Amino acid sequence: MKKKKAEDELIIEDITDTAPDLVVDEGTAPKEKKGKRRSKNKHKKEEAKQEEAKPEETEREEAKPEETEPEEAEPVSEDVAVNTKADPEEIAVSSKEDPNQGNAGKKEEEPVGEIVIDMKNIVKRYFIGQPNELEVLHGIDMQVRRGEFVAIVGQSGSGKSTLMNMIGALDRPTEGEYTLDGVDMFKAKDKDLSAIRCKKIGFVFQTYNLVARTSAQRNVELPMLYGGVPMRLRSRKAKELLEMVEMADRMKHQPDELSGGQKQRVAIARAMANDPAIILADEPTGALDSVTGRLIMDIFHKLHEEQGKTIILITHSPELASECSRILTLKDGLIIDERKGSGRRADN
Ligand SMILES: Nc1ncnc2c1ncn2[C@@H]1O[C@H](COP(=O)(O)OP(=O)(O)OP(=O)(O)O)[C@@H](O)[C@H]1O
Ligand SMILES: [Mg+2]
Repeated sequence: MKKKKAEDELIIEDITDTAPDLVVDEGTAPKEKKGKRRSKNKHKKEEAKQEEAKPEETEREEAKPEETEPEEAEPVSEDVAVNTKADPEEIAVSSKEDPNQGNAGKKEEEPVGEIVIDMKNIVKRYFIGQPNELEVLHGIDMQVRRGEFVAIVGQSGSGKSTLMNMIGALDRPTEGEYTLDGVDMFKAKDKDLSAIRCKKIGFVFQTYNLVARTSAQRNVELPMLYGGVPMRLRSRKAKELLEMVEMADRMKHQPDELSGGQKQRVAIARAMANDPAIILADEPTGALDSVTGRLIMDIFHKLHEEQGKTIILITHSPELASECSRILTLKDGLIIDERKGSGRRADN
């Protein structure tokens, strides 16, 4: 138990640099991050110490999840409707075990096809007001409906990652209108954005962004730690997710003991930890050979078909893009083409 808590503290120290998408309650300006991170870490450390000192309370917390609201779950502005409370019941359910519950059940309940990402005339500029001011996105109009599997393709430097960072609230647009699942992203405060990232979005990156010297299982538990999920539920859910990506036998391995494809499977499991409705994947197969890339793509298909996840995938592979339901092509910061894809595996 002590070792696990000490690991938590180390992970929290490392996290801002390793996986920015997991940072909670941070501003988007990089210069603000260090100071805030320290205070957040302190907060987390205190929480970890408390949990360690009172193991019997952890048991009770599981029995009464509504009392487990962690200290770091600060109130979110009224104008954003994000539920930062972890629902252990919901998290504990594996859709694999019972297709009538969990995500599969949710898919039926939720209005399929409503617009979840609504961008109008999004402009992104860097170095504003300086001689080297640079406009990277020139007015993006983009709508994504719940349950869509959208590919974004385009040459290197066309602005794909910049756009993805806007979609995922890792960065703010300079101009335009952006509503994510009903939340006005221009009105949302920084802490609201981190809550949205934590609960609504799962990120997968080309470089995996796993926390080093930390087991696969602990990596997957991490977003749940930030999401306020009690320890035992975190552990159980992490195991379920690692089983889903067929990594149960490597649960205790650290990232440097895993192949690229295995690391990416762990990263996908981690992206799913808080059961987000939206998955954003920025070239998730970019560093993998085609066979391993195929395996990763199959996991995305599974999440799309079986759990109704909304997925946005950046890829340089025309084959993989054609398997998405819609393909957007970006060129020099503008969407220049939009096509329908098959929405399923090429051989299906
Ligand atoms: N933080 C930043 N500050 C200044 N310019 C940036 C920043 N981030 C990205 N850019 C610039 O924005 C442009 C688009 O970059 P982006 O990373 O979005 O391209 P991309 O389409 O994802 O390319 P790739 O396929 O190589 O990943 C590039 O010219 C890049 O130099
Ligand atoms: Mg990129």
